[in-house]
Amino acid sequence: MERWNELENRCRACQRCALADTRTNVVFDAGRRDAQIMFVGEGPGENEDLQGKPFVGRGGQLLDEMLSLIGLDRERNLYIANIVKCRPPQNRDPLNTEQDACIGYLEEQVALVKPKVIVCLGRIAAMRLIKGNFRITREHGQWFERDGVWITAIYHPAALLRDPSKRPETFADLREIRAKLKQVCTEGYI
Ligand code: URA
Repeated sequence: MERWNELENRCRACQRCALADTRTNVVFDAGRRDAQIMFVGEGPGENEDLQGKPFVGRGGQLLDEMLSLIGLDRERNLYIANIVKCRPPQNRDPLNTEQDACIGYLEEQVALVKPKVIVCLGRIAAMRLIKGNFRITREHGQWFERDGVWITAIYHPAALLRDPSKRPETFADLREIRAKLKQVCTEGYI
């Protein structure tokens, strides 16, 4: 609790990059801090910046629908955070320098949550957490193991809103995620 408060306060006061100048709110996290599964997005959009919570816009609504397809609920069994905690202007991709400045917060979040499974939402998160040359069109749904944590990536909800033809592949990925959770999570967790 103490460590969470200290981390969150430090992050909320952060001035490590220029995104601090244009943010309305730092978007720190949502969900359970003792979750066994963590979802990681790229960075806040306009609604998230205004409300201070991750995935609250149309993409967030789609994410909740995707989660419910596999029996997950963001308050009940997930933790959600982003690679960068402040909104990039015009929703551009976060720059590498901005990601570098911010990634330490996510690393501390992961160390405190200790998830068994991490799901990257989209290319930016996958390139940061899985490998720099990650190709989302080819490698979504594949599993990578890092220090005993299983990591995979699926299309970002915003990509699914733009291109609904990607939804069946994502549904297949979600079913695989459900199977992985059944293998690795504590009995009764999902
Ligand atoms: N997109 C993201 O990647 N993260 C959010 O929190 C919202 C939209």
